[in-house]
Amino acid sequence: MAWWEEAVFYQIYPRSFADASGDGVGDLRGITSKLDYLQVLGIDAVWISPFFPSPMRDFGYDVSDYCDIDPVFGTLHDFDELVDEAHRRNIKVIIDWVPNHTSSDHPWFTESRSSRENPRRSWYVWRSLDEKGRLPNNWIRAWSDQPAWTRDDLTGEYYLHCFLESQPDLNWDEPLVRQAMHNVLRFWLDRGVDGFRMDVVHLIGKELSRNDDPELAALTHVILNDVPIVHDYLREIRSVLDGYADRVSVGEVALFDPHQVATYYGQGDELHLSFNFKSLMTPWRASAWADLIRETEETHAAVSAWPTWVLSNHDNPRIATRLGAIEERVRSALVLLLSLRGTPFLYAGEELGLPDAEIPSERVVDPGGRDGCRSPIPWQQAPPFGWTDNPWLPFGTSAAERSVEAQRNDVHSTWHFCRMLLQLRRSEPALLRGTVVGLEVRGDVMVFERHEGTSRLAVAVNFADSHAEIPWSTETIAEWLLPAMPPAHLSSNGAAIVRLR
Ligand code: GLC
Repeated sequence: MAWWEEAVFYQIYPRSFADASGDGVGDLRGITSKLDYLQVLGIDAVWISPFFPSPMRDFGYDVSDYCDIDPVFGTLHDFDELVDEAHRRNIKVIIDWVPNHTSSDHPWFTESRSSRENPRRSWYVWRSLDEKGRLPNNWIRAWSDQPAWTRDDLTGEYYLHCFLESQPDLNWDEPLVRQAMHNVLRFWLDRGVDGFRMDVVHLIGKELSRNDDPELAALTHVILNDVPIVHDYLREIRSVLDGYADRVSVGEVALFDPHQVATYYGQGDELHLSFNFKSLMTPWRASAWADLIRETEETHAAVSAWPTWVLSNHDNPRIATRLGAIEERVRSALVLLLSLRGTPFLYAGEELGLPDAEIPSERVVDPGGRDGCRSPIPWQQAPPFGWTDNPWLPFGTSAAERSVEAQRNDVHSTWHFCRMLLQLRRSEPALLRGTVVGLEVRGDVMVFERHEGTSRLAVAVNFADSHAEIPWSTETIAEWLLPAMPPAHLSSNGAAIVRLR
């Protein structure tokens, strides 16, 4: 098995994680200062969201220099130190590569927009209106009902931006763009990163002509872009990574069909891993989860793709908010994340069962309405929770009780529960590598087993708001792993894990 198939990844949104400089925005030295914490928690790798120079209109997903660090986050020296310190603790580091678009402040775009003849004109997607005065296609930019095309007065042409006007899309059909972006990968690989999370990487292939179907008119750009050429680009990217030992790519393939997602692994020559986002929308119902697991298993196994699992991230509501702040549900969701077959991605703060913060309208900063799940991590129990008095986003009302300090002091907390699961996963080959067997729904209870050699674990999740019968007969159980003592029943929304004879 490759390390990334057995690892648990922990996503750090650097602005919100830990602030060493005391300016209210998290930074790289803040992350380094929490590596001991991450080691105690028991994760294997971190994915750090963008920290590159940026005007921050999309909080770093609008990059103006791919090979440096934004001063708000620190310096390249801080980065090298972070990687060294993480590696000393056996924690791998992957970073966020944003290949689909740059910031409009990037010098490449400044040149590209300067004239129609500029050598970098072809680095972005420029078009004129057609003879009837229509835009090149009907694509809508993210977070709006506005076209994904903006006129640039300098030359009178329109450029494509699937996201903000200040995030022009690169033209991946231009070989020099591919070369430049490959060199960005090499810059960080040479610095010792263990790989990349690749932002909306399915979008880099485009067919602008996919525009005339009226049924598609209401759909966003994300759905419109799943075209064959992207697989050529991914194979090229893969060969850059293959020039280095043991580096990983995980693609943000923001398509919600596990079958489509699985195609992004190619024949083992494209992405190493891809996000599978259907789980972000799967309702809290036994049959819905069983269908998702079955679909993921079947589609991924068919092409020998190793699945991934995710419950939340910096773009989506946290588990406690999505599932209704029911403690048992939050814990059972963690059980699913950490006991299914595949690589789990745990968003920082989920080990605390932190809900999204309510953001008063005067504090809203994100154009995509995602501030709630980006509220800072409360480290200490007393305000300002291990931050300065003015963090960039406010804390939620449960920050004190959900803080790391409060929960580490309480052996019954979500934090201890999550840590225990992480330890269990690490010590059980069946959870790391085992096959999924006997997936079944019995009323509101979903059960499945993980088998590896002679080791057989069974997992049950009760999706009902009332307790349920234990789904295994006493004779078949060799050992209770979760909870540690045999319970009388499965608690409402609760989960159980046993070792089978
Ligand atoms: C991805 C990121 C998101 C960002 C968008 C544009 O979906 O996760 O935060 O806004 O890409 O880069």
